[in-house]
Amino acid sequence: MNKLALPILAVLSDGKFHSGEALAQQFGVTRATIFNAVREAQTYGVTIFSVHGRGYRLPHPIKLLDQTEIMQAIGEHAAWFHLLVLAQVDSTNRYLMQESVRGIAHGTCVVAMMQTAGRGRRGRQWLSKLGGSLTFSLLWRFSCGAAGLTGLSLVVGLALVRALQAMDFVAVKLKWPNDIVVLIHGQWHKLGGILIELQGDMEGPSAAVIGIGLNLTVDDTMQQQIAQPSIGLHQLLSQLIDPNHLLGRCLQQLAVDLNTFSEFGFEPFKAAWLAQHAYQQQAVQIHLNNGNIQTGKAVDVQTDGSLLVETAEGLIAFHSGEISLRGAA
Ligand code: ATP
Ligand code: BTN
Repeated sequence: MNKLALPILAVLSDGKFHSGEALAQQFGVTRATIFNAVREAQTYGVTIFSVHGRGYRLPHPIKLLDQTEIMQAIGEHAAWFHLLVLAQVDSTNRYLMQESVRGIAHGTCVVAMMQTAGRGRRGRQWLSKLGGSLTFSLLWRFSCGAAGLTGLSLVVGLALVRALQAMDFVAVKLKWPNDIVVLIHGQWHKLGGILIELQGDMEGPSAAVIGIGLNLTVDDTMQQQIAQPSIGLHQLLSQLIDPNHLLGRCLQQLAVDLNTFSEFGFEPFKAAWLAQHAYQQQAVQIHLNNGNIQTGKAVDVQTDGSLLVETAEGLIAFHSGEISLRGAA
């Protein structure tokens, strides 16, 4: 990333006009250098208006990530986390997977202002834009083996829904196994996703890299690249959400719920999870990897995180690796 791009964005983050000349003066460089840095920032997906005679301006104010503000927002559990704020990385999950092998500490959280190769589940892409998304990964170590972590992704989804609902996003729900969704005009929109990657033996100990992407704004260009309706938190409240505060609240809730999960597994979360499931007792379609579609009614989840669907052939348990769940209205 151009080393001036972020400092310039920090100045422009107020959403007001700043002339090229004033910026050049402030950073001790030429106006051409400012122009180039702005142009590079635009390639990260940030819209910057350039108006002759007035200067540069963002379409609306944005809040950038700040280490101190995030730690403050975590509150009493702040000491449990080791926080790393990156301007840019290919993928926070890839980064933490690599660092985890080298023994990086339990509770390390890597948050990036921008990801250039964000990963979704099953090798898919996760799209994000600077100032338009919250993208972070958390390393959590467990004494049990990977086999004991099958319910983890559901617990993470529930923790996020709890954090968001406590921040007044009362309409957010879960879509099995771990999408965060919101119902808008009768249609579920994807607000966030979770990608968990595991390391370690089946018998233990193990480490989970818990990757979370939450949309703040999904604009038309981004929506066109996403196969399903999506939405951002800014669009839900029509006001600016402070990503530092949002991350702090998510980590706070994750710390509490991950500790409970370590000790007791998924069972204590099951009832709360079902209460937040968008498709609980609803007709669903299960899109299998081989292209087949199974229909039925989503009736329950099991302690291993699998979804129980009542089908014409009886109850079937589906495991998250293989499938995509869709409503069947
Ligand atoms: P499910 O999670 O139910 O299997 P899914 O269709 O959400 O189904 P994933 O396997 O999780 O699919 O893959 C990630 C999906 O998320 C891709 O379909 C991709 O188009 C979509 N996607 C990528 N970036 C975003 C984003 N910022 N917001 C919403 N969706 C996104
Ligand atoms: C999905 O719904 O498919 C999961 C998306 C997970 C995206 C997050 S963004 C932070 C972390 N880093 C990644 O590369 N992916 C996860």
